[in-house]
Formats: sequence, C-alpha cells, structure tokens
Amino acid sequence: MIEVISDIDKMRQISENKRLKGIKIGLVPTMGAFHEGHVSLIRRALKKSDFVIVSIYVNPIQFGQNEDFNKYPRDLEVDVRLAGSLGAHMVFSPDDSIIYPEGYSTYVTVEGLTEVLCGRSRPTHFRGVTTVVAKLFNIIRPHVAVFGQKDAQQLSVIKKMVKDLDMDIEIDVGSIIRESVGLVMSSRNKYLSKKERKQATVLFRSLEAAKELVNTGITDSEQIKKKVSEVLHSASLAKTEYVETVNFDTMTPVEDVINGALVAIAVHFGETRLIDNVIIHSRKGKNNAG
Ligand code: PAJ
Repeated sequence: MIEVISDIDKMRQISENKRLKGIKIGLVPTMGAFHEGHVSLIRRALKKSDFVIVSIYVNPIQFGQNEDFNKYPRDLEVDVRLAGSLGAHMVFSPDDSIIYPEGYSTYVTVEGLTEVLCGRSRPTHFRGVTTVVAKLFNIIRPHVAVFGQKDAQQLSVIKKMVKDLDMDIEIDVGSIIRESVGLVMSSRNKYLSKKERKQATVLFRSLEAAKELVNTGITDSEQIKKKVSEVLHSASLAKTEYVETVNFDTMTPVEDVINGALVAIAVHFGETRLIDNVIIHSRKGKNNAG
C-alpha cells in the first residue's frame, strides 16, 4: 500500500523535501471512486513528473444543496490500492475539518466563464472547485497538475485561475476516456438504471453527429446545435439541459464552429446529470468551407 497522508503539515514537508532535491511533483486531483478516466490521468502524471501525488477528497462546497454529496460513491481503500498499483507515489486524503476548519471564510471565484454552461444550473459549483484546487495547490505545491477534458469548463476555469493568480503550475490535460459504447466514464454512471445507461450513449452519438456536420463543411452553430438537440431528443429518457458551442478558453459562444471550438452538452437521465463535449479539430470555416 502506498502512503496516505491526511495532514497538511506533513504533506508540505514531504513536498518541500522533494522540491529541494529537484524532484518534479505531479498532482492528480480527484474525488475518488476511480474509473479508467482517473487511471489515464494518473498514468499521464507518471509520464510528466517524478513523484505523483493523487488527492482524493469529496469536496462538499462544490456540491449544491440538492445535489449528490451524501450519496457520492466513496471507497478510499480500493482507490488507494489502485493508485499504488499504477505506480503513483502517494495519496493525499484530508478530512473536511482539515480543509474547512471552523471559521473558514475564504473562496476563490473566477468570474465570467463560471456563469455559463454548467454554471447556470450550478451557480456555486465552480467557486467550490477553484477554492479546493487552490488549496490543494498551496498544500502540495506540484510542478504539474493533470485534469481531464471531460470536465472542459472546469479545466478552462482552473487554467484561468492559474493565469490570473500567477500560480507557478503547469496544467496538463488528459483526453476523455469512454466506455466502448461511447458513454463517458464517470463516477456518476453508477446512478443510472439499466435502461438509462443504454440510452445514455445518445450523448456521444449527438456529438458525433456534430462532428460529422463540421466535416461536411457545415459550421454554423445554430445548425449544429439543432442537430445535436434532435439526436438527444431521440432518447425518450433524456432531458437536455444545454447544448452550446463555445470557445474552449473563454467559454463564450461561437457562431462558427471551427478549429478549437467546443461543443458541450448536459443531459439529465432521471436524477442523474451527465455532461459530454467534443473539441472540433477542423480548419474549415464559414469562408473557406467546401
Ligand atoms: P473527479 O470527478 O473525481 O475527476 C477527477 C479528474 O478526472 C478531473 O480532472 C476529471 O476531468 C477527470 N475525469 C473524470 N472522468 C474522466 C474521463 N472519463 N476521462 C478523462 N478524465 C476524466 O473533477 C473533480 O473530481 C473535482 O471537481 C476536483 C477537480 C477533484 C476538485 O474537487
């Protein structure tokens, strides 16, 4: 079993020691309940750094009042074993009382790009994410931190925080890991019924349809959003929350879905909220399509 640290001072000491020796520290922040998506990020961190710390912490302040904080899957022992078997060097898993002691009152807010897409239905979510990630960065002081493109808006928000607050940390991005049927791996997939899970592949299919349109030269955002919505509508249990085409860095809407644009969707299946996205890689645009 690899070592599990839950104490801030101890974690600091270890990191400081590594830094003094010129050892490159990689961090993979997670909320546990590992699947292949997390595994891929740990593998990435192992390639990018010499000493990989995986943080496992279900951060209460990024969950809204009616969200799934209490039922969020937790299995620290299994996660620690898996992280160790992959070659990670340490797990940081603090308690709530350590991260948010009584009287805690400081929050990190990235304005603008947190107010669109997922931010509309989850108004306090990203503030919770940036606050905990800033704390993890300060405690662990990694040289590089790895995040997944699966949570594209989270990734952009974290990159913006790092830039705006002059944090000396490289943000590395892992691609989206999917099940063979196209469904994005997510700890929340456990909530899906058999029927919902079957229908949930519609998210991937709708994004494939968007890519296909772009490949045929149709890059008009309205047409693309319409197509994606139509495909999503074909699944009887799916309730679409949003279909957006945005600039990946700024999360502002784009009219022309060309290279670097992000098509992002959020869809509900009963109580379960799923997100997915695709980055468009194409050099075609309005003026040079064809
Ligand atoms: P969590 O949902 O556990 O995700 C941890 C990391 O794994 C994130 O960077 C996420 O984008 C990535 N990830 C999740 N599913 C993935 C998949 N199918 N393919 C590739 N990467 C995937 O995201 C969080 O935790 C939290 O918000 C956190 C950043 C830890 C802050 O609390």
